[in-house]
Amino acid sequence: MCGIVGYVGKDECASLLVKCLKRLEYRGYDSAGIAVFEKGRIKTVKAKGKIAEGLQKKLDEKCPHGTCGIGHTRWATHGEPSDINSHPIGNGRVSVVHNGIIENYREIKESLMRHGYGFESETDTEAAVKLLDYYYSGDPIDAISKMMAKVEGAYALGILFRDFPDRIYAVRKESPLIVGKGRGENFIASDVTAILDHTKEYYILEHGEIAEITENAITFYDASSGDTVEKEVQVADWDIEAAQKGGYEHFMLKEIHEQPSALRNTISPRIKDGLPDFSECGLTDEMIRNYRQIWIVGCGSAMHAGMVGKYVTEELARIPVNVDIASEFKYRDPLIKENDLCIIISQSGETADTKAALELANKAGADTLAIVNVVGSSIAREAKMVMYTNAGPEISVCSTKAYAVQCAFMYLVAFKVAYAVGTITEDECRKLCGELCGIPDIVAKCIEEKEQYQFVASKLINADSLLYIGRGLDYALSMEGSLKLKEISYIHSESYAAGELKHGTISLIDENMPVIAVATQERLFDKTQSNVKEVKSRGAKVVLICKEGAAVDEASVDYKVQLPGIRDLLMPLVTIVPLQLIAYYTAVLLGRDVDMPRNLAKSVTVE
Ligand code: AGP
Ligand code: GLU
Repeated sequence: MCGIVGYVGKDECASLLVKCLKRLEYRGYDSAGIAVFEKGRIKTVKAKGKIAEGLQKKLDEKCPHGTCGIGHTRWATHGEPSDINSHPIGNGRVSVVHNGIIENYREIKESLMRHGYGFESETDTEAAVKLLDYYYSGDPIDAISKMMAKVEGAYALGILFRDFPDRIYAVRKESPLIVGKGRGENFIASDVTAILDHTKEYYILEHGEIAEITENAITFYDASSGDTVEKEVQVADWDIEAAQKGGYEHFMLKEIHEQPSALRNTISPRIKDGLPDFSECGLTDEMIRNYRQIWIVGCGSAMHAGMVGKYVTEELARIPVNVDIASEFKYRDPLIKENDLCIIISQSGETADTKAALELANKAGADTLAIVNVVGSSIAREAKMVMYTNAGPEISVCSTKAYAVQCAFMYLVAFKVAYAVGTITEDECRKLCGELCGIPDIVAKCIEEKEQYQFVASKLINADSLLYIGRGLDYALSMEGSLKLKEISYIHSESYAAGELKHGTISLIDENMPVIAVATQERLFDKTQSNVKEVKSRGAKVVLICKEGAAVDEASVDYKVQLPGIRDLLMPLVTIVPLQLIAYYTAVLLGRDVDMPRNLAKSVTVE
């Protein structure tokens, strides 16, 4: 999600807040704003668009004067980018900036509307703002504690209460937030990058703590007991560039580490009472039961996520799923019809080939469902239905967390469709949804096994070309693994259906052609192991990615990456971790520009 800053001290803070926000621009955002105490009142200035085009222009016309305020760069999740949906959001008594997602915002809004509250924005954030106002009766800590007890989801909040014009309050759950310690001035920020020009000393705010910040004091309270909490000050030894990456060497590595929280932000809001919930986009069981077939269209990693969707949906729902490369779909006159569902996958929501495919599907009269990351993007606006992956900004050109959440969405679709057409029972659907909710923690554990991925990478760096092979879902994953390696290390690779090798391609195999065999599907393991033996016997260096406990013929592999043994069906969400990190460490060892590989753009807006 995006950026929060806050300042209380002796200096005029409007321009200072803007400068701090600019330090967070690298995170990507769609609107920005500040709120400053001026003569005891909260003055808010905010605008859609980049700071220079929107917020700064408004401040040039009229700038609030004060020494205590908050600021925000928004990455929209609920409500298109617009002036009214920008933050800070307030009602004169309370003003809030928010990073994250309030998952139960609808219930909170409905309840507050019954108490006479109105809502001006389309955001989830406004529910928290009005809830604070509802609970506030003179004690900010009490109001915040009560709000925290009610709100579900991920949030970092900077809060102003009109009755306390000399202080800022801050609270967080999952979304990051720090409190900066200055000399006669103090700060809040999403990450230390925003305030490194002012101080290197900061506190990490933990979940369940409330920070109260004035110019000379920082006090932490335990939200449940109200007791004060002592905390240790941290000192940032990063420079600005390192800080933007959260201390990781590259955005790609940072974004791989963000996958567990991104997956939670995708999955949790779409599972209600243990079952898939697509009410936000209007896809009903009746519509699903009327579909003749499903199409999934995208480019690159998005298309690869669609391949996972095909295997999983056909396995569970037993209805035909066609996956198409968008640039092919448009020109092959596809047999898409009115009673089809066309799922369009795109992180940016601006990919020209994918947009063109969407237009064709719309024109054919199919129902179109866009699964995108950027709220209000062209594809989001032009599809009949849209659901957002909520992965937050993905800065690295190489898709990692975006692919992961796109795959997660494919599971939600498969469970929803299969349950609607009756090929899985309610209990089976609940069990699948429960296991899907457990995936983020398993992914987090796999990401920590970095040494083995670094070791494997060190064995691949001299290769001119590699093969990635697999069967079924492992074949779908080998496509993404191969793309990752190619696009950031510049080593040629190709993904191949393991069973197809013997029909020609196996002639390429010799001691100079490493093979990465993806073999996580138990029911296909023996078959894939036979293919591994075929390439091993022809001299290939073999890396095997399999489940812990798989009956591996050790003589036929050179290096083994073992993964937690979960249900075959869900393995892709875990298997992608070694594939991403092997590619990452190979590129790093080769000294490549990992985040900005040659010839590539983050969003390909030309056909
Ligand atoms: C994958 O690492 C690349 N960044 C690329 O294949 C990307 O997935 C493709 O261009 C589609 O982009 P989109 O998801 O923004 O539409
Ligand atoms: N969910 C909030 C919104 O859509 C906050 C988004 C963010 O983290 O920037 O406004």
